[in-house]
Amino acid sequence: MKSDLSSRLNRPLTIGRATIDRRLVLAPMTLLGHIAFRELLAGFGGYGLLFGEMCSARRIPQEAYTGSAYFGWREAERRHLVMQIFGADPTAMATAARVIEEKGLFGVDLNFGCSVATICKQQCGAALLKAPDQAARIVEAVRRAISIPLFVKFRTGWTDDPAIPVDLARRFTSAGADALTFHPRVAPDRRSRPPRWDYIRRVKDAVAIPVFGNGDVFDEADCLRMMETTGCDGVAIGRMAIARPWLMAQMAGLLSPDTGIYRRTAFALLDLMERHFDNRRALRRYKKFALYFSANFKFAHSFFKRIGNAPDLKALRGELEAFFSGDPETMARPNMNFFL
Ligand SMILES: Cc1cc2nc3c(=O)[nH]c(=O)nc-3n(C[C@H](O)[C@H](O)[C@H](O)COP(=O)(O)O)c2cc1C
Repeated sequence: MKSDLSSRLNRPLTIGRATIDRRLVLAPMTLLGHIAFRELLAGFGGYGLLFGEMCSARRIPQEAYTGSAYFGWREAERRHLVMQIFGADPTAMATAARVIEEKGLFGVDLNFGCSVATICKQQCGAALLKAPDQAARIVEAVRRAISIPLFVKFRTGWTDDPAIPVDLARRFTSAGADALTFHPRVAPDRRSRPPRWDYIRRVKDAVAIPVFGNGDVFDEADCLRMMETTGCDGVAIGRMAIARPWLMAQMAGLLSPDTGIYRRTAFALLDLMERHFDNRRALRRYKKFALYFSANFKFAHSFFKRIGNAPDLKALRGELEAFFSGDPETMARPNMNFFL
C-alpha cells in the first residue's frame, strides 16, 4: 500500500503555469501553519506546497513592510509557499494578491471556507458561499491582477447538497481559478460530522483544473482511500500534519518514524519558535500546537494540561522534559476529531 501511495503522491502536478513535484500540501491553518512550523515541516519534506496562515487582504499592503508574524517566510520556502487571503472586496483582494506575487511566492489562495462568526459577519470566508456572484467577482479580479497560480479553498456551502459545491467549483473555474481545495463539510459544521468525500468526487468530475481533497486524512490508508475513491489530484492535510509534522514525508516514502521522533519534534519546534517569535507569541502558538500534538499520546490530556498551564517558555521546556522522561505511550491512530 505504501509504495502505491508514495508513487501516487510523488508525481508532478501542473497548476496554472507552474508545476509542483509532489501532491501533498499543508492546509492553511491560523496560528498553526506559521513560519516556525513550516521550517520544522520542511526539515522532514514530502510536501508539494505549504499554505500559510490566512491574512486579511486589507492588511497585507501594510504587513508587507513590517516583520509580520503572519505574513512572513524564509527565503528557502518562497517557491513552495501559497499565502491565503480573506476579504469581501474584489479590489482589496486583487491588491493583496499582487503584493504576494511581487514577493515571489508560489501562489495565492482565496479563503471561501472559514465559518468563524467574526469573519462571516464581514461577508468574508464561508459567507461568500451564500453570495456566489460576489465570490466569482473576487476570483475574476484576483485573476486579472496576478499570473502566479490562483487557488480557491471552499466548503460544501451552508446546506448539505452536493449540487452547491459542484456549481461553485464550475463558477470558480470559469472565473479563472487554477486549482481548488475542497473540504466537503457544510459551513456551520466545525468538523463534528465526517466530511462527505463522495462530494469531492463530484467536484473533481465537474471541473478540468486540479482538485485537492481535504478533510479527516489521518494516516496513509486514509490518504490512499481519498485519492482512490474521489479521483482528487492531490490531498491537503491539516490537523494531522500538525500532530505529526513528519507525516507527509512518511506518506511520500521518505522516512519511517522511530519512537524518538515525538520528543525530538516537540523540542525542535520549541527551538524554532523561540527563534522566530517573541516570547508571548511563541508561548501562545506552542500551546495551540500542543492541542493537536497531544492527540498522539494515550494520555493526551496530561500532555496538554502540562503545556497549557505553563506560564512561560522556560516552564514549558521543563514540562516537555518531564513528560518525555516518563516514556509516554503513543497512539497508532490519534483521534483528531476529539479536539475539533
Ligand atoms: C485551528 C485551525 C485553523 C484553521 N485555519 C484555517 C484558515 O486559516 N484557512 C482555511 O482555509 N482553513 C483553515 N482551517 C481548516 C483546515 O485548513 C482544514 O480544512 C480542516 O482542518 C480539515 O482538514 P483536516 O481534517 O486535515 O484537519 C483551520 C483548521 C484548524 C483546525
